[in-house]
Amino acid sequence: MVRGYVMKANKLCSLLLVIIIVVSAGAPASASVEDTSFSDVDASAWYASAVAYCRDNNIVSGTSSTTFSPQMTMSRAMFTTILWRIAGNPETAVNQTFADVDSNQWYSSAIDWAAYEGIAIDFGSRAFNPDAPVTREEMATLLYRYAEYKGIGMDESVQIRFVDSQSISNWALTAVAWAQGAGIITGKPGNLFDPQGSATRAEVVVILHRFLTTNLFESDNETSVVAEHGADESNILIAYFSHTGNTQTLAQYIHEITGGDLFEIVTVNPYPADYNECLAVAHRELQGDYRLALAAQVENMAKYDVVFIGHPIWHGHTPMAIRSFLEAYDFSGKIILPFCTSGSSGNSQAMATIRDMCPNSTVLDGLSITRAMLPDARNLAEAWLDGMNIGNTSAWTDGMTTDNAAAQENIINIQVGDTVLTATLVDNSSSEALKDLLASGSVTIDMRDYGNMEKVGSLGVNLPTNDERISTEPGDLILYQGNSVVIYYEPHSWSFTRLGKINDITQAELKEVLGSGNVTITLSLPVPVIP
Ligand SMILES: Cc1cc2nc3c(=O)[nH]c(=O)nc-3n(C[C@H](O)[C@H](O)[C@H](O)COP(=O)(O)O)c2cc1C
Repeated sequence: MVRGYVMKANKLCSLLLVIIIVVSAGAPASASVEDTSFSDVDASAWYASAVAYCRDNNIVSGTSSTTFSPQMTMSRAMFTTILWRIAGNPETAVNQTFADVDSNQWYSSAIDWAAYEGIAIDFGSRAFNPDAPVTREEMATLLYRYAEYKGIGMDESVQIRFVDSQSISNWALTAVAWAQGAGIITGKPGNLFDPQGSATRAEVVVILHRFLTTNLFESDNETSVVAEHGADESNILIAYFSHTGNTQTLAQYIHEITGGDLFEIVTVNPYPADYNECLAVAHRELQGDYRLALAAQVENMAKYDVVFIGHPIWHGHTPMAIRSFLEAYDFSGKIILPFCTSGSSGNSQAMATIRDMCPNSTVLDGLSITRAMLPDARNLAEAWLDGMNIGNTSAWTDGMTTDNAAAQENIINIQVGDTVLTATLVDNSSSEALKDLLASGSVTIDMRDYGNMEKVGSLGVNLPTNDERISTEPGDLILYQGNSVVIYYEPHSWSFTRLGKINDITQAELKEVLGSGNVTITLSLPVPVIP
């Protein structure tokens, strides 16, 4: 089976690679130093880029919306909570491990986790001292233990080279040696380590920045390559972001139907499990048009001709992870099929975003599944793909004849009930405008009979006109007064704009397809077929 593979448990391993990709793609994954947005962090400060990095990646936020308080010390509870967040807010079965850590504090889960995983430093008598400033040797120890917890191989042979190494507590010696050897902690002027000095917020973010972006994690024997391919080397990728699993389920169905490779888009910093907190974070990101560091990369995007992009609807839009993903790769020439799940919202804004961000791709009409539709999601996915002529894998892989040429030859589809007719457009500015309109999505028109000779309905927008005297034939597609579409099934003579003609249909067949009375038609561009 072809399947995707994402190292959820080891997201940090690929962080460096992700950052390189995002930066090289020009995306502002880590804000420029000019953009610290904190009045007390000068752009030229030695810690400014680390502040921006930690802020952008939701690792350490400001002490207010405008201040960062770089010289303030950081508490042990806070530092432990940061590591817990980086780890993805894992839950542990234990609680209240330390006598001085109440179970209802904002840091309780983090400290319980750290204790459970052997990361927390125990000061005896079940004391954690959550409010005490974290010292530099404690910080080194916590990072060292965190790295161990992540399975990073340690070089135990490194010697400490700080001049005050005699002052380092015994329990911290190995960690400090490791931190110095790995270039995470470089010391203070005079080659001092200052082990019992309390760490300021500025120092903490610089050290975290180094910790998360050194090639430390690259030596880990797990690979950062995330897409695993089956023997058939599919040219279809199903990339999705999912917070609570609905989109993931839909992605899995699409994977089963198409045989494409699955790829989960994961942010380096996980979203809060609490719904309201997640709403707030997502809202802030949307307002700020954030870009996020992603924890894994598609190994070889170039090999995919077709890319499904799946996501939940967040505040009516795509989550920022999707925008970050779209900016990280070149989708030129690819066919993109968006799909989403939501409570009840539609996908129009999300579709518009994806189309905007992929101007050189063919973005087909997306599948939008609301909560009420979820039980039927698999059938709906099949119907969606069938409707696009891409529901069976052989159609994708056997090189089914392409409609790409047709798309370039002024063909549009007209769907009436279950019947899909094609029409050939004439060459004028009106049909060009119609194609432009259809390029951003299909258009549905409610039509009525008029004069026993035509079906007519409003297009909802105005197109340029090219009126001329026309004597119609059955199947003629006409633009009337710039904003109505007419299908003639009887002859008529008037001055209006010719859009095109329905292909290969007799008058009797046309009348049968259109039926008597009102009818709804859907105009769309043909689906380009997968090479
Ligand atoms: C931060 C956030 C914002 C959301 N905004 C919307 C919204 O604007 N409209 C809507 O219908 N549902 C909204 N939802 C509900 C999700 O779109 C819906 O539950 C979706 O199926 C979740 O997909 P997932 O399980 O793949 O994360 C929101 C959920 C979250 C967490």
